[in-house]
Amino acid sequence: MGITVRKLREEDIEELSRIEAASFSMPWSAAAFRDLLAQPYCTYLVALLDGVLAGCCGYTKLGEEASIDNVVVAPGCRRKGVGKTMFAELLRTGRQEGVKAFTLEVRDSNLPAKSLYGQFGFVCEGIRPGFYEKPREDAAILWLR
Ligand SMILES: CC(C)(COP(=O)(O)OP(=O)(O)OC[C@H]1O[C@@H](n2cnc3c(N)ncnc32)[C@H](O)[C@@H]1OP(=O)(O)O)[C@@H](O)C(=O)NCCC(=O)NCCS
Repeated sequence: MGITVRKLREEDIEELSRIEAASFSMPWSAAAFRDLLAQPYCTYLVALLDGVLAGCCGYTKLGEEASIDNVVVAPGCRRKGVGKTMFAELLRTGRQEGVKAFTLEVRDSNLPAKSLYGQFGFVCEGIRPGFYEKPREDAAILWLR
């Protein structure tokens, strides 16, 4: 079956919130994901690995810019190309919807994520000092224009 990518659905949300909790010190709740489904300016995709929910990513669109708010792959599904496949699809979807520039924030120490974004051409254009909590850390602000 391999990796497939489709839009986020209500039925994904419970499992997705478990993936979040296993991946972040300040995870998004199921309610936060449910709110997104109702927002026309939010686009969220999920990746399935062999038919099982393996990850999620999405953006909020403001004019021709999109802010990528969440990228996560389940711990047991990492390093299998899931992140790269769904992220490529997210950028493709955005461009189809008229997005000209993408931005995101990432913990400065998060080398796996920074490496993933770098492969797609994202570059660091600034630092938000102390942006993250648990633990407090600077955010690198990346852009793909
Ligand atoms: C970042 C993350 C989404 C990558 O997902 P993934 O499915 O493991 O990524 P892929 O297997 O598609 O790998 C894509 C690229 O990411 C980078 N990468 C992924 N894991 C890495 C690691 N442990 N160390 C270094 N680079 C890594 C590499 O550049 C890799 O490309 P390569 O295979 O050609 O080396 C995943 O590690 C994750 O969910 N981390 C926790 C949540 C998180 O930090 N999200 C980002 C918040 S901004």
